[in-house]
Amino acid sequence: MAAAPTAPPTMRAVQYDAYGGGAAGLKHVEVPVPSPKKNELLLKLEAAAINPVDWKLQQGLLRPLLPRKFPFIPVTDVAGVVVAVGSGVTGFQAGDHVVAMLNSLYGGGLAEYAVASESLTVKRPPEVSAAEGAGLPVAAGTALQALRAIGAKFDGTGKPLNVLITAASGGVGLYAVQLARLAGLHITATCGARNMELVRSLGADEVLDYRTPEGASLKSPSGKKYDYVIHCTVGISWSTFEPVLSESGKVMDLTPHFAAILKSTLHRVTFARKQLVPLLLSPNKADLEFLVGLLRDGKMKSLIDSRFPLSDVMKAWEKSIEGHATGKIIVEM
Ligand SMILES: NC(=O)c1ccc[n+]([C@@H]2O[C@H](COP(=O)([O-])OP(=O)(O)OC[C@H]3O[C@@H](n4cnc5c(N)ncnc54)[C@H](OP(=O)(O)O)[C@@H]3O)[C@@H](O)[C@H]2O)c1
Repeated sequence: MAAAPTAPPTMRAVQYDAYGGGAAGLKHVEVPVPSPKKNELLLKLEAAAINPVDWKLQQGLLRPLLPRKFPFIPVTDVAGVVVAVGSGVTGFQAGDHVVAMLNSLYGGGLAEYAVASESLTVKRPPEVSAAEGAGLPVAAGTALQALRAIGAKFDGTGKPLNVLITAASGGVGLYAVQLARLAGLHITATCGARNMELVRSLGADEVLDYRTPEGASLKSPSGKKYDYVIHCTVGISWSTFEPVLSESGKVMDLTPHFAAILKSTLHRVTFARKQLVPLLLSPNKADLEFLVGLLRDGKMKSLIDSRFPLSDVMKAWEKSIEGHATGKIIVEM
């Protein structure tokens, strides 16, 4: 393993040592800088993005599997500079600017330094800022995989499907709208009134305010039925989706709870034409490279809701829990 000449022995980090507690459960600590193993890189972090899953894990979403152990430094989506590389790393060297998704088992993003696997790290070109890059791994990765799962082709050669994107103003939704636009899909989107113009400007053809009766019904103003729904929020029942779907319409559920998994299993075993389909991100380097390329080429943007210094991370955590961000919440080191 190459030495890390510029890394100090300890670093500032933010961790929690038990389930629950929300922002008040986070603690500022000074801990040793981690060492990269064979296929890992040590990064000096510049920015990290908070995703709902980060605080849901703190709430106990995957208890007792995750977090693996306490104390736990949360957050996986980061951008930074390579400080040192493990002996098996071939594609990076100290000084490279990168975007990475850290291993969900170990987290590590709310810190000055973190180790990333080479297999989930990509180079960040100068056209892409650290904050814009950090926004990508979970949120844009999920939007990309959900759209690919429905057959979207991002060079516009796929079928002209009608899609509904719920919570189009959120971290996942804003990427989903832009990717669906690249794929040439007809997009109906839901969001709050204050974000309707933004969502339209990024490519939605029709936008519904989710707080109005029309918005809550999910009905397309032009009467179109949806071939697919990219469902980026919670609390909408199957009985609301069912009448607005085309004959074999599917709802790609990004936040599948127990009842939704039962419903989707029932749909599958009964060969129902309209189906609820749970979808979880499967992180991979090729997708991250593709997404960074879209930012570099100006084909997609990372919209930043707000930026917080690491010293103010509790505010960032609270903001994400409140659930009203427009785009990504970024912590800067
Ligand atoms: N399956 C996976 O692998 C995966 C990956 C990433 C995320 N997710 C899940 O996907 C969901 C979205 O994540 P995110 O990062 O996009 O969340 P987020 O950024 O926190 O979403 C916030 C946005 O949602 C809007 N919103 C809230 N309720 C809404 C509703 N009923 N209708 C329309 N808009 C609504 C809010 O608008 P207002 O401010 O106007 O209320 C806000 O702009 C989360 O549940 C997350 O856990 C799953």
